[in-house]
Amino acid sequence: MLRLGCGGRRDRRCAGPSRVARGGTIEPTAVRCARQNLPDGEVHQGDLFEPLPAALRGRIDLLAANVPYVPTDAIELLPPEARLHEPRVALDGGADGLSVLRRVAVRAPQWLAPSGHLLVETSQGQAASAVEVFTEAGLLARAVSSEEADATVVIGSLRDGHR
Ligand SMILES: C[S@@+](CC[C@H](N)C(=O)[O-])C[C@H]1O[C@@H](n2cnc3c(N)ncnc32)[C@H](O)[C@@H]1O
Repeated sequence: MLRLGCGGRRDRRCAGPSRVARGGTIEPTAVRCARQNLPDGEVHQGDLFEPLPAALRGRIDLLAANVPYVPTDAIELLPPEARLHEPRVALDGGADGLSVLRRVAVRAPQWLAPSGHLLVETSQGQAASAVEVFTEAGLLARAVSSEEADATVVIGSLRDGHR
């Protein structure tokens, strides 16, 4: 499993070498947190897939991304603990909140194993658009929400294993 956009509190829930083998994130503080959360895994610093070893292409079974998805204009409406204390790069998802998710979806098919899956967290309101983005990227997509976890995830799989 590879976790993109790792490095925060919530990652600890899925940390552990047998579950998350690798993480990728861009911001130095997030990299330090990710290394603490994943003491036996590998953490790569850089823009999305850029820092990953080429040998991983076509071999990732589970790619879970928690990249920023707050629309730029909505950042000022966030509670102060997020707005003032989170780095902008952890929040800003561009005009519609889906800019980084789009970049993940377009490139994910090259990195997924034939039976691999891409999971990306979104807001419930963005889920239908995110499913469209995944579909345009060639993935079979659906959105799943959990009331208990208060979370929505879009799941994409390669169509018949094709990239
Ligand atoms: C919404 S935060 C999630 C943090 C953590 N996964 C959690 O649940 O607490 C988004 C994360 O994505 C990282 N990120 C933003 N843009 C990125 C990019 N282009 N490439 C890699 N990571 C990125 C940020 O540094 C931040 O750690």
